[in-house]
Formats: sequence, structure tokens, C-alpha cells
Amino acid sequence: MAAKNRWMVLCLAGVLSVAGCSSDNGGGSGKIGEQPETDTGSVEEDTGGSDEDAAQGPVTYYQHIKPILESNCVSCHTEGGIAPFVLDSYEAAKPVAGGLATAVESGSMPPWPPQEGCGEFQHTRAVTADEIAKIREWADTGAPEGDPANAASGQVDTVELGEPDFVADPGFDYVGNPPEGGIDDYHCFVIDPQLDQDRFLRAFESIPGNDSIVHHVLLYSAGPDEASRIQELEDEDTSSPGYTCFGGPRLSEPTLLGGWVPGTVPLDFGADKGIRIEQGSKLVMQVHYNMLNDPGGTDRTTVELHYTDGTPDVELAMLPLAQTNLNIAAGNAEAVETVSIDLPIPIDLYGVVPHMHLLGKSIDVKYTKDGQDTCLVDIPEWDFDWQGFYLYKDPVRIPGSSRVTLTCKFDNSPENQPDGRTPRDVTWGEGTYDEMCLNYVIIKRPPGL
Ligand code: HEC
Repeated sequence: MAAKNRWMVLCLAGVLSVAGCSSDNGGGSGKIGEQPETDTGSVEEDTGGSDEDAAQGPVTYYQHIKPILESNCVSCHTEGGIAPFVLDSYEAAKPVAGGLATAVESGSMPPWPPQEGCGEFQHTRAVTADEIAKIREWADTGAPEGDPANAASGQVDTVELGEPDFVADPGFDYVGNPPEGGIDDYHCFVIDPQLDQDRFLRAFESIPGNDSIVHHVLLYSAGPDEASRIQELEDEDTSSPGYTCFGGPRLSEPTLLGGWVPGTVPLDFGADKGIRIEQGSKLVMQVHYNMLNDPGGTDRTTVELHYTDGTPDVELAMLPLAQTNLNIAAGNAEAVETVSIDLPIPIDLYGVVPHMHLLGKSIDVKYTKDGQDTCLVDIPEWDFDWQGFYLYKDPVRIPGSSRVTLTCKFDNSPENQPDGRTPRDVTWGEGTYDEMCLNYVIIKRPPGL
């Protein structure tokens, strides 16, 4: 099917304005839907310690704190992990006990930007009110060790994908190559998945090579009709295989397949669900390098792909909903940008990927049906360093004849400038100092799309 027709069906305007789409780029001042009252944390797996011994003896590392840290912190706070210190032993945790309590009380740790009560996501990182209280009590009572002989353990939240069907490997070690005077380098690696038929991507895991310079990884597929454009880009960049691709892959209609940022777990859409990769497509892996910590560093990042067996029950598509017509005036601390689209048909939403740059303050997506708002995702304190591909526990059915609205708020005041810059009028763009108001939706591809 012609690529453009895909857009007709959903009318995800703002990215493409398609005749006949009803779209509204203004307004959208409605309130986020009613949010249920919840306590500070979601319910997590049983972490081992029983309530009775908590009520009786003192809170100790081995009986109470170890399972909490293992379930919620150690995935990052481990040797070689992305956090700057480890939390995987009593010796490591004891000296920082007070800091741990402060971090969980303030909500800064574990990092999990989506607001509770708006969307139920997989792999939620959250500690319960009870766990927070235990860490505080432990810190305030001198961080006692307890008895290692009957230590409780926690569950590390990992995704085991097994043997990949294909490993996307550029085939060479890349040497970071930022433009003159800069520290950021975006490189697109072109890899042939050698498909003799259409395949469907069920899951993937990025394996960053040099984690002191790899900032993010985005994986796209580019259909056969993009081949000559890719060739052109590769010919332009003679410094290494692939091509330089600041901000985006520079193709006319690439399909986003998934991505990785620090802290994300492997993306797994689940059995019998997948995004189509057309036969004859190339994979384009965009890696954003930030060379600050290792100037001249080399990297060999790979992505492991897992396909469904045959055509899956649910074919997924990842499509952008975006307000590209941004006008964020210099000095404006309260800039609000919205975009709405009217859905002619019901849609099953499997995930969301909200995205802004450094001036972003908050971002949310909701749908409105018969005057009722339903919140889909809400990130009240946008943090550029903690982005994610958020998959719902269960897909959300957005009814037909509803309006989906993305709202982005920006602070372009002098106090909120990155790297000590002076405020300037900011518009849509791929540079880190430009802005975006964008949310990818991961949806079940409706018939005919
Ligand atoms: C997804 C990865 C990740 C998880 C999970 C995580 N941390 Fe962190 N943590 C980091 C990173 C990265 C830093 C350093 C940068 C920063 O502060 O954001 C950090 C910093 C900290 C700090 C330093 C001060 C602060 O608040 O930034 C403390 C304390 C901390 N973490 C405690 C915890 C505790 C306790 C848990 C579990 C309840 C936890 N972290 C879970 C990644 C993580």
C-alpha cells in the first residue's frame, strides 16, 4: 500500500496535514481526566520480608532493606550499571542510608517520570509508602545489618528475550566524530536484515557498546523506496560507513521500530504482536553519541531483533502525533503547545513515547469523548535524561469519534536555559536546542492502514 495512505486513515495531523482530516492545533485547555486517589507507590511483588517481623524487631538490611533495593534499585546501581554507585551489598548501602531515604522520600529515585493514576504501564519503577518508611526507619536507627543467615531477596525486573533471530551489527568499531567544536555526534548505521519475506518485530534489545558515550539508540526500518536516498547519504559522508544524521534519520518515511535510552528495559511487545518490516528494507540504527566523557572514544553498539513466527495476531504501528508548528517565545516561562486529532475509528493503544527537548516542563496525552477526558500518559516534570518507551499493561481502547490531545509545556525563561544560553525564540527542530512536542503512539494497525 502506498505509504501516504497510511496517514489518511488515522489523520495524525500536525505531522502531515492530509485533506479531509479534522485537526485542531489550538485550544486543548481541558483538564486531565479524573485521577484516582492512590498512595505514593504501586503495589509491587512480594519482596520477601513479612509484615510481622517488621512490626516486631528492628528494620535491618538483610531482612528488610536488601529485598527492596534488589527489586527497585540494583538494576541500575550495580557494577557496570548506569548509576554512579552500587547498592548491592550491606557495605555499599550502609554509608549512604540517609541519602537513600531522602531520595525515595523526594521521589527522585527510583526514576519513573509518568504520573501515577494515568496509564498503567509495564515495568513501572516505584517504591511503596511502606518501603519508603522502612528505608527511613533503617537509616534513622543506624542502618543495622541483621542476620545474613536468613536474608530475604528481591526480584530484579528484567526482560529475558532468549536467542535473537537477527543481530543488527554495523560490522565495525565507530570512532565518535562530532562536528568541529561540538560534543554531540549522531550517526546512522545502515544494516541489511536480509529478509526474504516481510517479518514482524516482536521484541528488541539494544546492546550499547561504550556506555560512556552512547546517549540513545533509535532503530528504524526504511523500505525499498528509500534505497537511493540512503545511498546518497552514505556517499556524502565518506568518514565512515553509514552517514551522519543529526536529530533524525533524514529519510522521507522511515518506520520507527524502537529505541533505547539509559535505564530502559528491552522492548517486548509480547507474543503474537509485532511491527512489520517489509522485505527489501534496510535497518537504520541511529546512535546519539555524547563525547564529553570519552573524547575520541570508539563504540560497537548492536541491536538484537526477535521476530514473530509468521504474521502475528496483532500488527503494531508506531506513529507520531506532533505539533510541529512550535513558537516558543524568548522569555516565556509558560509556553503551551497542543495538537489534537479526531479519530474516526476506535484505536487500540499499546504504548506511548513522549518526547521534548531541554526546555520541556511537562507533557501529557489524553482523549476526550462526550465531554469526558481520559488521561493516557502524564509526565508532570519532564526530564530529558529519563525518557522511555512506555507500554501499557493492557492495551487501551480509544473509542471512535474521540479527540486525542497532546499538550506540551515549555519554560523558555532566562532561569531555565541549557548551558547558560540566552533565551531566543525556539521552533521545531532536530537540534538539542530546538524543541519538539511529540508523542509516538504504538497502536494496533487498523484494517486498511
Ligand atoms: C533506572 C536506573 C536507576 C534506578 C532503578 C535507581 N537509580 Fe538511583 N540513580 C541512578 C542514576 C543514573 C543516578 C545518578 C544521576 C541522577 O541522579 O539522576 C542515581 C542517583 C541516585 C542517588 C544520588 C542522589 C539522587 O537522588 O540523585 C541516590 C541516593 C539513589 N540514586 C538511590 C536510589 C535508590 C534508593 C533506588 C531504588 C529505590 C534507585 N536509586 C534506583 C539510576 C537509578
